[in-house]
Amino acid sequence: MSAQLIDGKAVAAAIHERVRSAIAARVAAGRRRPALATVLVGADPASEIYVRNKRLTCEKVGVRSVPMHFDATISEAELLGAIDRLNADDDIDGILVQLPLPSQLDATRVTERIRADKDVDGFHPYNIGRLAQRLPALRPCTPFGVMELLRSTGETFKGKRAVVVGASNHVGRPMMLELMLAGATATCCHRFTVDVAGEVARADILVAAVGKPGLVKGAWIKPGATVIDVGINRLADGKIVGDVEFEAARERAAWITPVPGGVGPMTVAMLMHNTLAACAAREGHAVD
Ligand code: GUN
Repeated sequence: MSAQLIDGKAVAAAIHERVRSAIAARVAAGRRRPALATVLVGADPASEIYVRNKRLTCEKVGVRSVPMHFDATISEAELLGAIDRLNADDDIDGILVQLPLPSQLDATRVTERIRADKDVDGFHPYNIGRLAQRLPALRPCTPFGVMELLRSTGETFKGKRAVVVGASNHVGRPMMLELMLAGATATCCHRFTVDVAGEVARADILVAAVGKPGLVKGAWIKPGATVIDVGINRLADGKIVGDVEFEAARERAAWITPVPGGVGPMTVAMLMHNTLAACAAREGHAVD
């Protein structure tokens, strides 16, 4: 068997189109565009690429992009002051501070300073807590995007065994909350898990989010499983690969995401969705 590919670019494009047409309808009705402030501190090359991509996608779907760039030496008080001004600005719907931050800045304090209803990354403890309590508000973009990819295959969750490899605050943990919310029986593997291969072998749905190339062996995959690879790893030869041994896993899985072109495009698509949702929620209505 060779798995079918889950086309993240196509699923993301459909979400862009949905957001674009909802914003066009708002503007045609005389309402303002949703606005997203993207805050970049310093000049980390990967962060610059990610932020540029977010700003370009804003333009594509009709979100008003408000780019902010600070020198790497900015003090925490100055950065928190900038966030306070964005928090108080009624014309700003979403605030994203690109991580990682330079070492003099405490990412937890910075993340927690963003108003929860403008936290379009979904990283604020309020938004994580709402997801944990089955009352999702703004949802972390990557796990939210993974759920969209799973749904695009026709995957159902109730009674399914889901395994998440990786327990990070931004992906692994909220991924567990999303899978439980959807009704899956979810297990998280982390650095102290004794038998990762055995856990993976029982997974109907596998999400790998560690950031180590080839960590998940193709031979571990349960035949017929759905495999989502969140990893984006650059090898010495410049090639981009995921956390899963793709070719071997593809022979066993029913569905699998490629890297690149799987989860990657979904994070930005869900950011656009969240920005529109934050705008609508602050105006007192919901988007689907
Ligand atoms: N750094 C890497 N990914 C992300 C993301 O999704 N959001 C933010 N704010 N920083 C990141």
